[in-house]
Amino acid sequence: MNYDEFRSAGHNLVDFIADYLQNISNKPLFNPVEPAFLYELFDEKIPDDPKSLAEIQNVIEAKVLPYCTHVNHPGYMGLITPSPNPAGILSEFLVGALNQNIGAYSIGPSATAMELRVIRWLNDLIGYDDKAGGNLTSGGMTSNFIGLKLARDYSTDDSAQYDGMREGWVAYVSEERHVSLDKAADAVGIGRNNLRIIPTNDNYQVRIDLLKEAIQKDKSVGLRPICIIGLAGTTNLGAVDDLESLHEIAQRENCWFHADAAYGGGVLLSKKYPGLLPGLALADSVTIDPHKWFYAPLDAGAILVKEHRRLNMSFGMQPAYLTD
Ligand SMILES: Cc1ncc(COP(=O)(O)O)c(C=O)c1O
Repeated sequence: MNYDEFRSAGHNLVDFIADYLQNISNKPLFNPVEPAFLYELFDEKIPDDPKSLAEIQNVIEAKVLPYCTHVNHPGYMGLITPSPNPAGILSEFLVGALNQNIGAYSIGPSATAMELRVIRWLNDLIGYDDKAGGNLTSGGMTSNFIGLKLARDYSTDDSAQYDGMREGWVAYVSEERHVSLDKAADAVGIGRNNLRIIPTNDNYQVRIDLLKEAIQKDKSVGLRPICIIGLAGTTNLGAVDDLESLHEIAQRENCWFHADAAYGGGVLLSKKYPGLLPGLALADSVTIDPHKWFYAPLDAGAILVKEHRRLNMSFGMQPAYLTD
């Protein structure tokens, strides 16, 4: 593609997206199409014949758009996957063009500085001090995985990242958790059966009395708490656990305290309702997803860590190709 073709295709695409956004309210928000119909529609061999972008656009109009859930529709009320901010839509275009890799400073200097700044902003929203750090991630699933790995490495005195997990560790979370926490418990070697699922009260918050009982029971048979997980905005109902009490318990047990604010973290932006997540700054690590209630397009997640050095202890490695 030469530059003139690129410019013309780009202008067409922006017009196409602007028309789509402007006319979205004339379409049904969701097309109740059967999966079998779409699997057949897309049942094609790997294409071996070059197509122009105009032809591809025809395919998009015929096969993709009619069967999208239109998150930009005025009737769409979702917060977990939001209507993306229009500036965010354009930024995705630019991101693809610049294609910066923030794996090392030398292959994306300004992008690296920007990531650190965004992490600092998120840490300020939480109320973390200047010892805090973090990373942008692909979403809450990855951030919760990182949170549980930080927990594992901290609670095992930084041995698990070298020797692997030994048996005898348990983590605790409410029954209203997101499934990513079960998968993270599996992936870091705690095991799903060692993730204790604690019932909730009438407000769908984890029951502190039952959590304490579960910990006592585990300790009485020689098991050790590796992590207490608090939910700051549950996926089903937006419930917020008593984070202050959870922190107290984690302190007493000398284990990690991770908070999943993937979706609820958005309320930190509210000037009208400040302080809706009391105790969030007490967590050792926090999951927040700007691609949820911050209205950024997918994928934009973040893991925030109260002590930045814990990230290096847990993940730090320096192969030659990542040095400057
Ligand atoms: C509370 C909570 N945690 C984690 C996740 C996982 O986030 P993602 O889909 O960005 O991986 C979700 C997604 O809905 C969530 O609601």
